[in-house]
Amino acid sequence: MAEFTLTKTSQVRKGRHFAAKPGGKKLRTFRVYRWDPDAGGNPRLDSYEVDVTGAPMVLDVLLRIKNEVDATLTLRRSCREGVCGSCAMNIAGENTLACTTGLDRLPAGDVDVYPLPHMPVVKDLVPDLTHFYAQYASIEPWLHTESAAGSRERLQSPEDREKLDGLYECILCACCTGACPSHWWNPDKFLGPAVLLQAWRWLSDSRDEATGERLDQLDDRFKLYRCHTILNCTNACPKGLNPAKAIAGIKRLLAERTV
Ligand code: SF4
Ligand code: SF4
Ligand code: FES
Repeated sequence: MAEFTLTKTSQVRKGRHFAAKPGGKKLRTFRVYRWDPDAGGNPRLDSYEVDVTGAPMVLDVLLRIKNEVDATLTLRRSCREGVCGSCAMNIAGENTLACTTGLDRLPAGDVDVYPLPHMPVVKDLVPDLTHFYAQYASIEPWLHTESAAGSRERLQSPEDREKLDGLYECILCACCTGACPSHWWNPDKFLGPAVLLQAWRWLSDSRDEATGERLDQLDDRFKLYRCHTILNCTNACPKGLNPAKAIAGIKRLLAERTV
């Protein structure tokens, strides 16, 4: 499987060039990473000159390319509203969502579009998230309870509910994990910022009764402590969340437990 690593972009060779039809009004060039496992060979960058009139977001442009120029271009998308997380990719050097990235926010000039870095690529802009979801499953992201629920739902005070703000909004897009150097170097052992933010989400839930077991699982020099607070994750999150703060919360809870 190919893998796009930020340090190896020079190995991606130049591919085909698609010029816009004469009469295009507002032209912009997009250089898009292409790799087809069935064709084999090295990845390449195809460049597409696109009339971006009426295409405010990068996803609009990519779909215009796919629908009007080159149907073989492969990408994931679903909601088009920054909710499903499936259109996460590396645009102009930043991990972000194609559907919420306006062309007016990009630096001037040609726009490079790659899959999320340091993950295996299924095809073109589609990363293989199998490992990411396996790591997510490993923290058992659901409510753990021992006590009987009683005849009513498990209630939460408004104050306890507020503790989940900044955590429940995570859409598992993996932009943060794809930007984390510690995860690049130890992807098998370090859980990475997205999964650790989710772990903190369940540790912060007043209804959850497995705090001790969850902390036991996380108290590991690789799973948690490979985070060196570089903050790439927080800078990368397109939802404005703060995985580094969540990780600090887990470390604090573990430190308090040992005092
Ligand atoms: S703060 Fe931790 S999790 Fe976030 S990018 Fe840095 S090392 Fe990775
Ligand atoms: S914390 Fe942000 S960047 Fe990371 S997976 Fe969640 S929404 Fe995406
Ligand atoms: S298409 Fe759902 S987040 Fe972009």
